[in-house]
Amino acid sequence: MKKKIIIAGNWKMNKTPKEAVDFLEKFLINVKDSKCKVILFAPFVDIEKCTDLIRKSNIDIKIGAQNFYWEDSGAYTGEISVPMLETIGVQTLLVGHSERRMHFMETDKDINKKVKRAVKSNSDLILCVGETLEQKNSEKGQESVMFQLKSALEDIPKSLIHKIHIAYEPAWAIGTGKTATPYESDKMCRFIRMCIEKMYGSEIGLYLNILYGGSVSEENCKNFLEMSDINGLLIGGASLQEKCFSSIVRTADSVIKGRTE
Ligand code: PGA
Repeated sequence: MKKKIIIAGNWKMNKTPKEAVDFLEKFLINVKDSKCKVILFAPFVDIEKCTDLIRKSNIDIKIGAQNFYWEDSGAYTGEISVPMLETIGVQTLLVGHSERRMHFMETDKDINKKVKRAVKSNSDLILCVGETLEQKNSEKGQESVMFQLKSALEDIPKSLIHKIHIAYEPAWAIGTGKTATPYESDKMCRFIRMCIEKMYGSEIGLYLNILYGGSVSEENCKNFLEMSDINGLLIGGASLQEKCFSSIVRTADSVIKGRTE
């Protein structure tokens, strides 16, 4: 069975609520017949306006949160909880992004706590893994990705694993204009699938959605989408311009169409 292609945009710390609404109004018109599953990770202040807008749309689109804390409430100044986010319409959570690991010192243990909290919620989640340039150059890419997967998924039971999608995002490819080649990324995605199969059984591996992320553009997106172990894309910079992101969604639709013909 062919899976739906997931096209996820990560706006990071960009767009005011007004800019988010302007983007989304145009986007929902431009991709109104899309067969993709679209997720937009918006800044917290934009979420409510975005979730209001997508209620009227008939495409499969969800608004996600780029971050959250693992406790539900309490004295955690500056943090935001999953129940708070779900109250304003969040349906997907992003965990383990390399910018959180690098700039905010999130550890694999923190990520595991977040995954544990997220799988108990009504939302699904995208767990990001990926090696640094140093790890790649010392041929430790697979080893570090496997370590991240095992740590993040520690004590996550098989019954909840269906809520998790994995994004393979080599840290050295994020925002740099450098991408892994489609062949390299497909190979790593296949390795990730194999790790999950070893942990949870072959059926889980088969249904797992694995996304590629890191300098995806209008020009290169098709090359990744045509690879057999890549089920979608997580897009930063190229998701900020509505025209560009719509064009990537339309490319994904043409790939879906090509598969069914
Ligand atoms: P990029 O970001 O597409 O700008 O490289 C990807 C990401 O951070 O998920």
